[in-house]
Amino acid sequence: MAYDTPKVPNDLSAFWMPFTSNRQFKKNPRMFVSADGMYYKTSEGRDVLDGTAGLWCCNAGHNRPLITEAIAKQASELDYAPAFQMGHPKAFELASALRDMAPEPFEHVFFTNSGSESVETALKIALAYHRVRGEGTRTRLIGRERGYHGVNFGGISVGGIVNNRKFFGSLLTGVDHLPHTHLPDENAYTRGQPEHGAYLAEDLERIVALHGGENIAAVIVEPMAGSTGVLMPPKGYLQKLREICTKHGILLIFDEVITGFGRLGSSFAADHFGVMPDLITTAKGLTNGVIPMGAVLATAEIHDAFMNGPEEAIELFHGYTYSGNPIASAAGLATLQTYREDGLFENAAALADYWEDGLHSLKGLPHVIDIRNMGLIGAIELSPIDGAPTKRAFDAFLQCYEKGLLIRTTGDIIALSPPLMINKAQIDELFGILGGVLKGLK
Ligand SMILES: Cc1ncc(COP(=O)(O)O)c(C=O)c1O
Repeated sequence: MAYDTPKVPNDLSAFWMPFTSNRQFKKNPRMFVSADGMYYKTSEGRDVLDGTAGLWCCNAGHNRPLITEAIAKQASELDYAPAFQMGHPKAFELASALRDMAPEPFEHVFFTNSGSESVETALKIALAYHRVRGEGTRTRLIGRERGYHGVNFGGISVGGIVNNRKFFGSLLTGVDHLPHTHLPDENAYTRGQPEHGAYLAEDLERIVALHGGENIAAVIVEPMAGSTGVLMPPKGYLQKLREICTKHGILLIFDEVITGFGRLGSSFAADHFGVMPDLITTAKGLTNGVIPMGAVLATAEIHDAFMNGPEEAIELFHGYTYSGNPIASAAGLATLQTYREDGLFENAAALADYWEDGLHSLKGLPHVIDIRNMGLIGAIELSPIDGAPTKRAFDAFLQCYEKGLLIRTTGDIIALSPPLMINKAQIDELFGILGGVLKGLK
């Protein structure tokens, strides 16, 4: 029987919330009960401007009619079809649509249900690819300090966020890390890509010399590191990584779970930076965050390496019950249509300069020590309170919420990534509220 859930439930104890200070939250809960366009509505009836596209995922904004209608229609037409040895049309249509919008070498799509699963899938494809080609010694995986690749064991092993790793044992073996690219002394307040730091990619040569290139399967990086607090790749850095990977036969994986689907003003960061990896992981903006779905994009070279052996044999022993789920596929198709029809990637590109100016106007406010940006993404780094790291940024988060703005914080960094439908007045509103909060921040 359908029933109306009270706007703030009486019992908050059962739900163990992810990446949340549960006790603090439950004393003073912050609940969204609806959303439309650029705004959430709280349980008290207040509008809150979405400065983060949910969790970097609602790139088309909220309550978009094409997407909500497609989901409803699909649910009543075909709710589920087995994902293994059976198909349904929408998954094939979505894969073709993704191939058509992806950079040229990417011709095949493997569906997952999240960014974390896309990462696991890409790492496994990389390992298996080398093996099916007779290069089974290539088992080592290289990530990067401060990298975020989701929360599953492969992802936290190649990832470089200490708290996401240190509680969980010895992780995958055979993993090494490149140094992160944060050079505040040289690059603070850079607009776009920083000048300094391309040389950090050369550390891959050190790792190759240590382990032997013939033992390394893949390097995985976020082309722009998001969750660690928005770190742009230094000029020339990604090109150098590509060069060294190619030289040693190592696959390059771009984790585009955040940068995919218009965040930088292009479909993918690979287009934006003009550097082609061998595998691309996606999720989030693929379905506008509305239904869980991710996808790994693979080049023909990688895919075709598996298409040997007897035709009745399964080529890749990997997949999820919900890979290419019909409702998620319908949501994905409607999302891509919304991006196209509303020109949202173009809007992101057109507003990037206005966004950059608004963001950098916050320079000089109390405790601000760096500002970084690209496309419709921005970060403001605050100096931490002595003995209480993260508290200052979290206070800013709470105050912004009270004043009608959703921001996101990691450590003492404020990260911003609004839906790509934002307009100039909303950008002014966002920086107006944030500037006011920063001015008064203890
Ligand atoms: C680059 C990157 N990879 C992977 C993930 C994990 O995605 P999910 O939370 O959907 O598993 C994220 C999430 O923020 C991400 O930013």
